[in-house]
Amino acid sequence: MKTLTDIPNLTGAKVLVRVDFNVPVKNAVVTDDYRIRKALPTIEFLKGKGARIVLISHIETADGVADKTKKPTLAPVADYLNKNGVSVTFVKNWTNAFEASETLKDGEVILLENIRENNGEKLNDTKFAKQLATLADIYVNDAFSVSHREHASVCAVTEFLPSYAGLQLQSEIENLSLAFNPAHPFLFILGGAKFDTKLPLINKFLKTADTIFIGGALANDALKAKGFEIGTSKLSNGEVDISDIVNQPQIMLPADVVIEGHITKDITVVGKSDVILDAGSKSLAQLKDKIGSAKFILWNGPLGLFEKGFTEGTEELAKLIAGATVSSVAGGVAKSIVGGGDTLSAISKLNIEDKFTFVSTGGGAMLDFLAQGTLPGIKALEDSKE
Ligand code: 3PG
Repeated sequence: MKTLTDIPNLTGAKVLVRVDFNVPVKNAVVTDDYRIRKALPTIEFLKGKGARIVLISHIETADGVADKTKKPTLAPVADYLNKNGVSVTFVKNWTNAFEASETLKDGEVILLENIRENNGEKLNDTKFAKQLATLADIYVNDAFSVSHREHASVCAVTEFLPSYAGLQLQSEIENLSLAFNPAHPFLFILGGAKFDTKLPLINKFLKTADTIFIGGALANDALKAKGFEIGTSKLSNGEVDISDIVNQPQIMLPADVVIEGHITKDITVVGKSDVILDAGSKSLAQLKDKIGSAKFILWNGPLGLFEKGFTEGTEELAKLIAGATVSSVAGGVAKSIVGGGDTLSAISKLNIEDKFTFVSTGGGAMLDFLAQGTLPGIKALEDSKE
């Protein structure tokens, strides 16, 4: 895979940069800028070499929450960039994209509107990818967090332009790959929902992790498979039989849980009408022990239901891992790699981003990369003949 320093001559070259600016927005203001900040080094590198930059991204949420009646727009991201030292021209209408890219001067940047307005994008359509390629001389993928998608601006476009990995994409690959050769004791904490989609990951890390703590809604499936009462809590393992997995000696499950009304109960006394919504204090004490002796910690996914405000367990966990991590600000003994949307929002809220070895920009992409060791967007860069 070629990287930015392999590009022969950037002065005056038009560079199509795929970034992931799919960020939360409220009242037309970006409310979490982590992904944008992580794309800036690549943009600055290219600007510094006199390249002409065409930024492309998707955005899925309109204002506040995913609202199907509102059209998601990158306009708030353009405002954010202009207010934070990166001067960009926002191109609202895709019909003006070609003209806008042609009139760029050295070091100038344009941001095109939500690429998913084009039908060909999600279809990984060759014709659309060819059109995209007419906007530039070079393609750079700096959007790790969407590289699990076979979309035109991630995959098909690499067939038509010389293609390179951006700095954040490179950094994600390097850091997440640490999990393939971890120091021991290796603690893997997996939260969130959708047990069935996370099974490959659990199976893979059962081979290398010393402890796998299963939290969040995933734990409901695991607790049920172990014969505990979980009331009417959310389940997700569908038809899959997970009894073998949950009885492996490395698997650790919450000892207590928080139910509706913020009441903490031991897992042995959960009632038929209870709904589990977070991990309890005993569960966090269990985790504290493991975190204290771990040399490598990998964490993705919240312990509680964020949408309903059950963020406490996740925030407490973030603080525990931050305190155990080798970093300039903390000073523990473990390396820590963390990621996932809700995980990231807990970390941003606590302002402890620099206390981890690495904070991934990826949600689904992080999980897929960890399970498969690569992603469609990475393969496309490696296979690019251009
Ligand atoms: C994400 O938020 O995980 C990425 O931006 C990918 O978005 P998607 O799930 O809508 O493809």
